[in-house]
Amino acid sequence: MGLNYYQIKKHVRKTRKLVIRGITIARSGHPGGSFSMAEIMGVLFNNFLHYDPKNPLWEDRDRLVLSKGHASPGLFSNLAVAGFIEESEIETLRKFGSRLQGHPDLRCPGVEFCGGSLGIGLSFSVGLALAAKIDNKNHHIYTIIGDGELDEGQVWEAAMTAAKYKIDNLTAILDRNFIQQDSYTEKIMPLDEELIGDDLSEMWRDASRWKTGDKWRSFGWNVIEIDGHRIEQLNDAFSKATSTKGLPSIIIARTIKGKGVEHMEDNPKWHGLAPDPDIAPIIDLELDSQFMIAPSIIAGDMTNLENEVKRCVHGRADYIHLDVMDGQFVPNTTFDHNKIKELRPLTVIPFDAHLMINEPVIHIQDYLDAGSDIITVHTEVCDESSFGEIHDKLKQNQVGIGLAINPDTELPEWSFKFLQTIDQLIVMSVIPGKSGQKYIESTHEKMARVVKILNEHKFKGYIEADGGVVLDNVGTCYNDGARAFVGGSAIIGQNDVRGVIRQFRLVILQERRRALLQKAYELGGIELVNKWIDLHLVGDKKNQLIRMAKETRYI
Ligand code: DX5
Ligand code: ZN
Repeated sequence: MGLNYYQIKKHVRKTRKLVIRGITIARSGHPGGSFSMAEIMGVLFNNFLHYDPKNPLWEDRDRLVLSKGHASPGLFSNLAVAGFIEESEIETLRKFGSRLQGHPDLRCPGVEFCGGSLGIGLSFSVGLALAAKIDNKNHHIYTIIGDGELDEGQVWEAAMTAAKYKIDNLTAILDRNFIQQDSYTEKIMPLDEELIGDDLSEMWRDASRWKTGDKWRSFGWNVIEIDGHRIEQLNDAFSKATSTKGLPSIIIARTIKGKGVEHMEDNPKWHGLAPDPDIAPIIDLELDSQFMIAPSIIAGDMTNLENEVKRCVHGRADYIHLDVMDGQFVPNTTFDHNKIKELRPLTVIPFDAHLMINEPVIHIQDYLDAGSDIITVHTEVCDESSFGEIHDKLKQNQVGIGLAINPDTELPEWSFKFLQTIDQLIVMSVIPGKSGQKYIESTHEKMARVVKILNEHKFKGYIEADGGVVLDNVGTCYNDGARAFVGGSAIIGQNDVRGVIRQFRLVILQERRRALLQKAYELGGIELVNKWIDLHLVGDKKNQLIRMAKETRYI
């Protein structure tokens, strides 16, 4: 079964917005720690946790214990998206009589543990796991603990106990966001090496400083260390943890507190603070504006695509764009599903397969079997019935569904009925067939027409800009509405893939900031622009925003 990467991304986007909605109305709550565990929760609820929202006490359900109970909005938002409670109930957060309190409360369906006083959740989880073993039950226990919480001695008692009793039906996830209540963990009680300055990126940059894993290994645990915001890495880590026998597993998920909202990220202030109502809509727009970079490997050494994939991994690509060409739909031939199958074991980074082939409906199963995470076919070689077959097959296999249109093709009427359920629309900005071509400028105004149709048909996926995308036009492509960006010659064709991807991210980030400034200006004029800019306290963001706002005369 696929990773349903897109489904999880959409789930996570929705839960972060529900967290903001609940906390803003409550005027109180913990966004920072809810956001740092958002992807952890998204992968758990979509791919690993067995539960029945209509029967929350089903005795064979897996148990999810939120030991860092203050992040309850992050739990409640996932219980809402999973169907345990109505999404609207999040608006009762922290109100008298509500089932959704500042810390998880057993009155809320799906809650297993009244968290809040830190340090206890792991012990409780050890008890659940031991009981399951005694009762010969096969359900799994997952518990999310905070890094600040590791200052509590009881955590380590539980860690020893779990190892002693070889509790392998328990997976702990450490939400390693380096911030606790009022400062950085490494300043209060270092788990890794001590943080000297205030620049948390120092802790991310140098893995040789990471000592937390050694602590858990010395307590007899299986340790898996990952980037806690990478859906594919979380998926892989949970698979490994749940199949490890004879000892408990902990996934040390390195995360960013407040991830997804620039002014909250790595800022201890947002451990427990509610956004102002006038700021919330700007945060929502920011949460809706996540973007992905997808290098196209055919722009590299076609005789050594394994190495091109490795360059994407080292470059920290969000996914890898695989241009399949059959020499019929386009004159060129690149590779087919056999090559994809060969490349698949090299990385868990999602494969974004772009099928420039005739009769895709005949071949789709081969590409499913090869292990692509997102498969896009061209409207020019489909009709409603054949695409309907492809759509359903991809959906059944939990693989992202993509549709592509050539520069001289408009979205066909038959495709409108699928727009609400497809995950990606590739708008080609070159004549398909090879990399290194120049962007077709008329694509910009075409995008306006396409976006209008997508909005009318409740498209909830991502537009992917593909063909001739370079640093000079990627900002405009973002403004046109694209959120996924293919880079062939502009990325894979360059020596320093990681450096170029970083530059792409920076350029796109500037455009996103411009859009957020505009939103602030539209909503509240210069006053709200200044108020929003003033929230950016970490690093140099505030000065960068002031400069940008002055250039665009918002202030
Ligand atoms: C063209 C492909 C594109 C191309 C991108 O048919 O679909 O993905 O490889 O390469 P650049 O970015 O160089 O146009
Ligand atoms: Zn492509």
